[in-house]
Amino acid sequence: MFDTRSIYWENDQICMINQIVLPGEFKIEHYDNWKDVVAAIKTMVIRGAPAIGAAAAFGMAMAARNSRASTVETMQADLQVAHDQLAASRPTAVNLFWALKRMAKLVHGKNWAGVDELRAALLHEAQCIADEDVEVNKRMGAHGAALVPQKATINTHCNAGSLATVFWGTALGVVRSAWEQGKDIHVFVDETRPRLQGARLTAWELKQLGIPHTVFSDGASGHNMRRRGVDLCVVGSDRIAANGDVANKIGTYNLAVVAKENGVPFYVAAPWSTVDMSLMHGDLIPIEARGEDEGAVIEGGRVMPEGSPAGNPAFDVTPNYLVTGIVTEYGVLRQPYAVSLRKLADQIEAGER
Ligand code: MRU
Repeated sequence: MFDTRSIYWENDQICMINQIVLPGEFKIEHYDNWKDVVAAIKTMVIRGAPAIGAAAAFGMAMAARNSRASTVETMQADLQVAHDQLAASRPTAVNLFWALKRMAKLVHGKNWAGVDELRAALLHEAQCIADEDVEVNKRMGAHGAALVPQKATINTHCNAGSLATVFWGTALGVVRSAWEQGKDIHVFVDETRPRLQGARLTAWELKQLGIPHTVFSDGASGHNMRRRGVDLCVVGSDRIAANGDVANKIGTYNLAVVAKENGVPFYVAAPWSTVDMSLMHGDLIPIEARGEDEGAVIEGGRVMPEGSPAGNPAFDVTPNYLVTGIVTEYGVLRQPYAVSLRKLADQIEAGER
C-alpha cells in the first residue's frame, strides 16, 4: 500500500518524492537549502497545488534554519528574500501564496524572544500545514465519495492524487475514499500532455492502490463518453475564483465541455486553500506559460519542424457553469458558486466552520 507523504521534514532535511523520475524510479530527494526547494518547485520535482504550498512552507522553515542571523530583525530580512523567491517559483496555484502568507503572518505576527524561537515556530507551522493537508483531503474524500455510484467509471485529468498533495489527494482522494468504501470503480486516466502527469503519476498511484484504471490519450475522452460510458469526471484545481471558475491543468476545460455535451457530471475537488476569493472571475487567474520544449520534444527529439513554434500554457480555466459541484473539506458546493462560496467564506471568517 502506497503510504509515503510527497513531502516531509526529517533529520533537518526536507524530503520529497521525486516526481520527475516516476514511474521508472521511486526516489526521495533530500534538501537542506531553501534555494533547492525553489528549484524543486520550478522543475516540478514536487508539483500539484497543495504539495507546492507545503513545499513553500517547509522552504521558509529551511530559510530560517539556513539563516546566520543573530537578531530577529536580520532573520526577518533573510526570510523575506526566501519568501519572494518561493513566491516567484510558480504563478497559478494559489495554495503556494496561501501557505507563504500564513508563514509571513507568523514571521511578523509576534515579538519573538530570539532567532531560535522564530526558527522553531516556523518549522512547527510548516508541519501543521502539512498535517492539516492530509486531514483536509480525507474529509474531502469522504464528501466526494458520496457522489460516486456503487459501480462507476470515473474520468480524471492530470494528477490530483497523493503526490499532488501532502498525502491522499483531492480528486484522486475522492476516488480512493470511494474505493475504500468497497465501490466498484474503474478510472479513465487522461494522459495529460505535455508533462504526462496522468500517464506517469496518476496511473502509478492507482496501480499502487490496486484500483482498476486505463490510460487514454487526452483526445479520447469525448469518444469514451459516447461509447464506453463515463459516470462522472472528477479533477483537482490550482485556483478557484470567487464565482466558481476553476483553473486546472491544461485540457481540463476541454474535458468539462465534452462532459457537458454528454450529460456527464463534472466535479472539482479542492481544499479551501485553493479558493481565491480576491479574484472575481477566472480570467483574472495568472496562467503559467512553460517552456516550449515540454511539448515540442518527445524522447529527446523535436516532433515539429524547426521554425514551427509550440505554445505551452500549463493551465486553463473552466467556467463555473460547466462545474456540477465543488467538493471541499466542508462539503459539496453547488451553483450559483458566487453565492455558495461567499456564504462558506463568511462562515469560515466568523469561525462557524
Ligand atoms: O503542473 P502541475 O502538475 O503542478 O499541475 C497540477 C494540477 O493541475 C492539479 O490538477 C492541481 O494542482 C490539483 S492537485 C491536488
